Amino acid sequence: MTDTKKLWGGRFTESADATFAKFNNSFTFDKRLFEADIRGCVAHCEGLFQAGVLTRSESERIKTGLWTILKRSDFDKKYFEETDAEDVHSFIESKLIHLIGDTGRKLHTGRSRNDQVATAFRLWLREEITEISKIVHELQKSLIDAAERQKDAVIPGYTHLQRAQPILWAHWCLAYFEMFDRDKERLDEVWRRVNILPLGSAALAGTAYEIDREAVAKELGFEGVTANSLDAVSDRDFAIEFVGACSLIMVHLSRFAEDLILYASSEFQFIELSDAVSTGSSLMPQKKNPDALELIRGKAGRIFGHQTALLSMMKGLPMAYNKDMQEDKEAVFDTVDNVKLSLQVAEIVMRNLHLKEERTRQAATKGYLNATELADYLVNKGVPFRTAHDSVGKVVLYGISIGKELNELNLVDFQKVSKLIENDVFEALSLEKTLASKNQIGGTSPERVFQALEEAKNSLERENE
Ligand code: ARG
Repeated sequence: MTDTKKLWGGRFTESADATFAKFNNSFTFDKRLFEADIRGCVAHCEGLFQAGVLTRSESERIKTGLWTILKRSDFDKKYFEETDAEDVHSFIESKLIHLIGDTGRKLHTGRSRNDQVATAFRLWLREEITEISKIVHELQKSLIDAAERQKDAVIPGYTHLQRAQPILWAHWCLAYFEMFDRDKERLDEVWRRVNILPLGSAALAGTAYEIDREAVAKELGFEGVTANSLDAVSDRDFAIEFVGACSLIMVHLSRFAEDLILYASSEFQFIELSDAVSTGSSLMPQKKNPDALELIRGKAGRIFGHQTALLSMMKGLPMAYNKDMQEDKEAVFDTVDNVKLSLQVAEIVMRNLHLKEERTRQAATKGYLNATELADYLVNKGVPFRTAHDSVGKVVLYGISIGKELNELNLVDFQKVSKLIENDVFEALSLEKTLASKNQIGGTSPERVFQALEEAKNSLERENE
């Protein structure tokens, strides 16, 4: 079924080539903006009424028509299928005209699809950003819960993927908590810039009708109105920024995934992934694969791709609107879908995660992870750090040669390197002391970490208020 003639058909004598029409069509994907665009249309209609362009009864008819169309889409599953509309905006307008007749033809007064699409896109994105933030919040909660479930658990910390120093498992959880906190901040900032109304900019020069743009903005819950009509219809920096913020979420998620993939391997055996988020091999019966985490890691590339696509699409575009910009939707839609899913799956992984505490504790005490402690011990006895570092290096070398950890050596062995080392060295090298000594803000001492956990919980509580 065809809805109507083209909205812009007046100056055309021939119809569009079928392949071009398909190429030009964005309804297949921008129908996702349907509800947002209806809301934008209703606000524009009210603006036209207030400006005296529409009579009260005309504006009432249009609004009722728009709400009817919205409702119809709810129960009529085929509503979006039987149409040849070019995009969501022409779809709505043609449905309106079909429903209420000629009055519907007045709605587009003082408006262009250029400011209309920018408005619908911002309205839609605004809600999605809030949704994504909520899911990040849930993931953070799952990190805190995991930390609390195994509050005293210790794991080896790594640099260069070499065992470095022992840390609390909760410290690892809180590291990701912090990253996701900043991600939420970034989303908030983007949200503020998205939340500005472009409607009233018309095609590029501004509207010729006395529409109170501030009032329209208020009705749609926008914080303000765009200050320049050319800018308003021609930039998509808000979308690029949004995908940028999502790219960083994906960077964080991919590292989180990579850590857990490693920890689940036979080489580490720090965690066992739940069956709920793993798959088997079609060939090797013993396999349990971390597909959920691998997909999260993999999807990061896809989101970065969208960011590059948007940047390249916008680069060098002449003022003002250009059809190239229709390409913004799919990149943003796909980003929203995949970021949400990745965050949700990460949360499920975290909720089902159990750390093999004995094994990680053992790993945290093998591999000279307390060597820095010994250097600090010497520093406390007045040895310059660089000298202490050198002496401890020698002790480690000796330990490696006889296959013993530092705390398995004899006092005599230590004293060969420094006479300053006494019996209290063994306590200083203990796992408990090693952890407890990192007691400044941001450190991994249990005292600091438990405090940080409380603060993290409180900050999430405050967000719930
Ligand atoms: N579908 C178009 C888009 O997404 C809507 C704006 C069309 N504007 C125009 N002047 N053809 O960008």
